[in-house]
Amino acid sequence: MIMLGAPGSGKGTQAARLSKEFDIAHESSGDAFRKAAAEGTEAGLAAAELFERGELVPDETVCRVMIEHIVELTSRGRGILLDGFPRTLGQAVRLEESLGELDQEIDAVVHINIDRTEIKRRLSLRGRADDSEDVVQHRIAVYDELTRPLVDFYRDRDVVVEIDGNHSVDEVHDEILDKTRVAVR
Ligand code: AP5
Repeated sequence: MIMLGAPGSGKGTQAARLSKEFDIAHESSGDAFRKAAAEGTEAGLAAAELFERGELVPDETVCRVMIEHIVELTSRGRGILLDGFPRTLGQAVRLEESLGELDQEIDAVVHINIDRTEIKRRLSLRGRADDSEDVVQHRIAVYDELTRPLVDFYRDRDVVVEIDGNHSVDEVHDEILDKTRVAVR
């Protein structure tokens, strides 16, 4: 399953909860880069320089890291919730090719819709390094340009589930459960 939505829409919050309830792996690309940066690896520090400005990490780097995890988890028979990946059409195509080679497919793409004012409210309360007002504004613009087109990409594959992310964590969670009952096994 893929969690898709703007910064602050609640992808990570909802993915963490679903992964516990269904015992499926939660793979967050943002967390993977933040961990690499905290460990001080060369790739992690290069990524930090980008994500602190609200820029995307290059497709090649993201795909190498994320697809490696996906292959490993799939070989152990685990279901996966992807949070923050794919985030460009190039990444989505690479993921589709890799899943095809693994004889796997995407069950559902959970598209969390959220108002801009609510994004700004939530992220101003959180205060992560990339949550300053100007960086959030840029992250939203990057989302609109590079990530939003994925909604149509996955609509063409008939796997998109639309969720209203403006409500409480519990209400959003319940709506996801209701609408993905068949997909989450
Ligand atoms: P990433 O960590 O994925 O950041 P993001 O997409 O901007 O998402 P956020 O973590 O801000 O929001 P979220 O939707 O997960 O919401 P959350 O649950 O945290 O990526 C960070 C950076 O890494 C990117 O900018 C990029 O540089 C790089 N990167 C990552 N993946 C990449 C890729 N594939 N390609 C290229 N670069 C990549 O919630 C947000 C806040 O709201 C929290 O405080 C939470 O407690 C609160 N909240 C959540 N739900 C609710 C609710 N219902 N009501 C009230 N508060 C809520």
